[in-house]
Amino acid sequence: MKKVFALILALAMVFALAACGGNASGVKTYKIGVAIYQFDDNFMTLYRNELESYFKSLETDTVKYELTIVDGKNDMAEQNNQIDNFITQGMDAIILNLVQTSSADAAIDKIVAAGIPCILINREPLGEEGDESYKGILDNATVCYVGADARQSGTFQGEIIRDLPNHGDINGDGKVSYIMIEGDPENVDAQYRTEFSIKALKDAGIEVECLDDQIGNWAQAKGQELCANALAKFGDEVEVVFCNNDAMALGAATAITSAGRTVGENIYLVGVDALEECQQMVKDGTMTGTVLNDHIGQSHKAVDVTIMALNGEAIENYYWVDYVKVTK
Ligand code: GAL
Repeated sequence: MKKVFALILALAMVFALAACGGNASGVKTYKIGVAIYQFDDNFMTLYRNELESYFKSLETDTVKYELTIVDGKNDMAEQNNQIDNFITQGMDAIILNLVQTSSADAAIDKIVAAGIPCILINREPLGEEGDESYKGILDNATVCYVGADARQSGTFQGEIIRDLPNHGDINGDGKVSYIMIEGDPENVDAQYRTEFSIKALKDAGIEVECLDDQIGNWAQAKGQELCANALAKFGDEVEVVFCNNDAMALGAATAITSAGRTVGENIYLVGVDALEECQQMVKDGTMTGTVLNDHIGQSHKAVDVTIMALNGEAIENYYWVDYVKVTK
């Protein structure tokens, strides 16, 4: 009789613990799916690592975050499968760095239909022209975007050149002759940085001449190749090399050195992200400037918002983190 009683008591304790803690040990484990557009990306690697370690730092004896981080390999079909898997696996929240923002609706719709909060990061889906508020986000209380306004980064790049003593006009012919090395053209960061860097110069009354505008897809090797080609073709005419990100600027810096040119003397070079090696180059003068894309601020905000959503707290649709200009 005693044995039966003890068994009933033990079972009751297991059930009670399961009810309050998610499992018998009293620990609540949240399952979080993180879909990154591509692991092979300098900036998103910093972002991803910080996201992971910040989640870890917020764990307690009773709350754990189990992350499943997947590589979209820059392939939207692959990422769609990954999202489907997250839904099947019953993730408690999904952090989504879209491969293609044109697929945002389809992705958001299925995540919302599954009752899972969706935190979009880094690649902002755009609304109608001139309006950054995207309906797919605004329409859903459990969907948000955490990121930085790419227009600001472009403007800062232009201002770095504008604020030079010669305003970027090295040969004194009254105009700034530049080449533009763009990221992935589907990405609004690439579009806005290309547009707003030049707009900042024009707004200051500076005449500009575009010698070359090519797509480097955020990649260092491509940045090097495109810059080398442009320098071979246009030689001393090139006064400023605008790169939509630092990875491509690193490549461009190599091409600039190989072409016997010297940053700060007969050419200027700007990027975005403020990768550690580029911050050092700005200090050394081998890069004119960059713009801090705050992966720490952005990843922490994304984690904080995810946890709010997990706790059932109301979240906003947009969270903005500022860029910061980096010059010597
Ligand atoms: C940008 C960043 C790039 C690249 C891109 C990926 O914000 O500046 O380096 O990581 O995101 O979407």
